[in-house]
Parts: sequence; structure tokens; C-alpha cells
Amino acid sequence: MRVIAIDGPAGSGKSTVARRLAAVLELDYLDTGAMYRSVAFAALRRGVDPEDTQPVGALARSMELELDADGTVHVDGADATIEIRGPEVTRAVSLVAANPEVREEMRLRQREWAESHGGGVIEGRDIGSVVFPDAELKVYLDAQPEVRAQRRSREVEDLAYETVAADLARRDAMDQGRATDPLQRTEDSVVIDTTDLGIDQIVAMIEEQLG
Ligand code: DC
Repeated sequence: MRVIAIDGPAGSGKSTVARRLAAVLELDYLDTGAMYRSVAFAALRRGVDPEDTQPVGALARSMELELDADGTVHVDGADATIEIRGPEVTRAVSLVAANPEVREEMRLRQREWAESHGGGVIEGRDIGSVVFPDAELKVYLDAQPEVRAQRRSREVEDLAYETVAADLARRDAMDQGRATDPLQRTEDSVVIDTTDLGIDQIVAMIEEQLG
């Protein structure tokens, strides 16, 4: 089973790079951030407080979650593709992602996904450090905070740059500071600063590592 792990903070270029790399390597692509976003979406939709550890954990275990290759996401049968990227979910997701019960369930589902897809290019925060410590290659993407905020800001047109930058800084702090599986670079990852690099250059650098 061939697994390529792509970790890094929001706006570091993970999704674009991982998608492109998956196409080049003819592997499937998994966006694990979309999984945590889906749990946050399910909690908000059912009126469960995202901070309530046990109810949110139970929800994560029982929810039906379907991620299609074209990026479509279904949560308990409903199309959540747009809403999981919205401001409400984005605000709640770090709380949900800090929940150890949620993380345990997502880890199981991610490993199952890889087994059933014959591996894949998998992006997230803890893919190389926790979920697939034996991945063939671990890539850690990073970029200057202002550049990451600019990238995110271009994706969400209806929010001011300042709002996006503040949200991103808060999420960075929570994702890096949480007790369970925080965002971290492992010693065996290839670190790429994407601040001044284009997508083709980044993908070429990763391909070089794969030999
Ligand atoms: O990559 P993203 O912005 O869609 O991720 C959404 C949130 O999910 C992010 O704030 C951190 C969390 N996350 C995580 O904790 N572990 C992962 N493997 C992927 C995402």
C-alpha cells in the first residue's frame, strides 16, 4: 500500500499539491480536513455544542460520511460540500478536532479508507506523525502566515482579509497547541516552504523525493 502524507497549516498549499500529486501518481486523494469539518457540520446541524466531548464523539462514531473523488461530501445523506467550507463550520472545527474521541474515530476511518483504496495521497495535520507513521513519503508544507492568509482569503470571497487572517491565526494556535495529535513536523518529513513557489515547482520537488 502506497501512502504519501501531506501535512501543514491552513493555506500552505496542501490541497492543491495533494490533488495534483495524486493525479500524477495515479493514486486516490483524501482530504482529512474535510472529515473534521464534516463532524463540526453534523454537530452544528443537530444542535450539539462542539465543545461537548462525549456527544460529539458519539456523533463522530455514528455519522455516515461519504467523500467522493470529485470533492463532494455527504453527511448522513445530505450534501454538505459547500457548508463545510463556510464560516460557521470553520469557526467550530478546531474545537471538534481537539476532541480525542473524534480523532480516534477519524484515524480509524482514514486507515480503512487507505486499505480500501490501495493507499493514496492523504493531507491533514497528523497524517505523517500519527495516522500513517510508515508512509512512503512525509511532506510538511509551510508558508509565511501573511501569504497563507492571502491564499485563504482568495478562496472565501465574502469575508474581509482581516477576518480570514484572524481566523487562521486562531486556528493555527489551536491546531498546534492542542494536547491530542497537534500539528507538528516529524523528523523524517521533507519540509517545503511554499511562500515563493508555484504548484508545478512544489510537485516536481516532491516527485524528486520519490525517486
Ligand atoms: O485543512 P482544513 O483547514 O480543511 O482543516 C480543518 C481543520 O481540521 C483544521 O483546523 C485542523 C483540523 N484537522 C486536524 O486536526 N487533523 C487533520 N488530519 C486534518 C485537519
